[in-house]
Amino acid sequence: MHCIQNITDSLLWLGGSDRRISLFEGAHPTPRGMAYNSYLLLDEKTALIDTVDRAVAGQFFENLEAALNGRALDYLVVQHMEPDHSATLGCLLAKHPEAQVICTAKAVPMMRQFGHDVSDARVRTVKEGDTLSLGAHTLRFLMAPMVHWPEVMVTYEEADRTLFSADAFGLFGALDGGIFADEADFDGFWLDEARRYYTNIVGKYGPSVQTLLKKAAALEIARICPLHGFIWRKDLDKIVSKYDLWSRYAPEERGVLVAYASVYGNTANAAEAVANRLRAKGVRCEARDVSVTDDSELVAAAFRWSHWLLAAPTYNAGVFVAMENALRDVAAHGLQGRSVALIQNGSWAPASANQMKEMLSGLKNMTFLEPVLTVRGALAPAQAEEVDAFAQAIADSVEAAQ
Ligand code: FEO
Repeated sequence: MHCIQNITDSLLWLGGSDRRISLFEGAHPTPRGMAYNSYLLLDEKTALIDTVDRAVAGQFFENLEAALNGRALDYLVVQHMEPDHSATLGCLLAKHPEAQVICTAKAVPMMRQFGHDVSDARVRTVKEGDTLSLGAHTLRFLMAPMVHWPEVMVTYEEADRTLFSADAFGLFGALDGGIFADEADFDGFWLDEARRYYTNIVGKYGPSVQTLLKKAAALEIARICPLHGFIWRKDLDKIVSKYDLWSRYAPEERGVLVAYASVYGNTANAAEAVANRLRAKGVRCEARDVSVTDDSELVAAAFRWSHWLLAAPTYNAGVFVAMENALRDVAAHGLQGRSVALIQNGSWAPASANQMKEMLSGLKNMTFLEPVLTVRGALAPAQAEEVDAFAQAIADSVEAAQ
């Protein structure tokens, strides 16, 4: 049975949810599944905005044929060629040989690279500001390169003021029957998945997102229809303001991500001792053992907090592997402007603090707090004052942060 949902009288949601997927892109855990959205505009002409991942192809095509109800599909707008939205493109074009493809010039070779048989005659490329009239509705195309691939565009429907935002404003997670953010527990649950999605998928491309946000600010927008997650029709600023922070690499919260790796528990103990003292001083903390925390969670937490306390043993004359892997992932996302305190452990030649600092050396506007706290096996009772002073230096920095 079809599962079409009406957004307006003329705009239909046709997507699907995969609740069996465990890793999105083979990398990011999706304990609540994943949604792939596609939208159909019905006017004098019909236009489909993007297709879906192969995993939900069956539901999608059933929805599409029921929604068209025998009508021709005049246009397929391809905003993004990543296969989570385009794996079913070739099948769609075969089922609807009448459909003309609307996309950016950069999307065309990608279609063929991914094996879709698209003739030049079927493709109409668009550039910034081009429009397409469907009758009462007009689509205006806005280029959004690197949000999240170079061929990406977004689409603004002028009559109903709908922004089809491609990957932007999406989240990890299947839909829950409803499709609207205002019907979901966004603040209590989905914000964390929106942050984890943005930071891991698009986070490296903050300047590109800023460019898109500036274009969006010039539009009157009644609803945002992303390719993943919920549709926004109320309180749009709730998600737009988060995107503004995240894409400027500005922290959401003053406080400390306490991330530690520990072989026998002594480094964990040192991190815990500092976290306890920070809490006693009124500093908010999020403590994570990186050995049992997925990197996608750490990347999201690194975006969220103003300060990081990183604690790791020295291991093979380097950084203990769990922290090394996590920091490599965090550093790959282009974060900037954080203050970092370091705890190193080393029974005979502690070296992990300098090496953690080195791993983050490519990030802009980072502040490394002094002193480093060094543990030689286990924290010694005689280090109590040193631990207090270390925690105080972090607390002072958090207090001073804007
Ligand atoms: Fe949801 Fe960049 O694909």
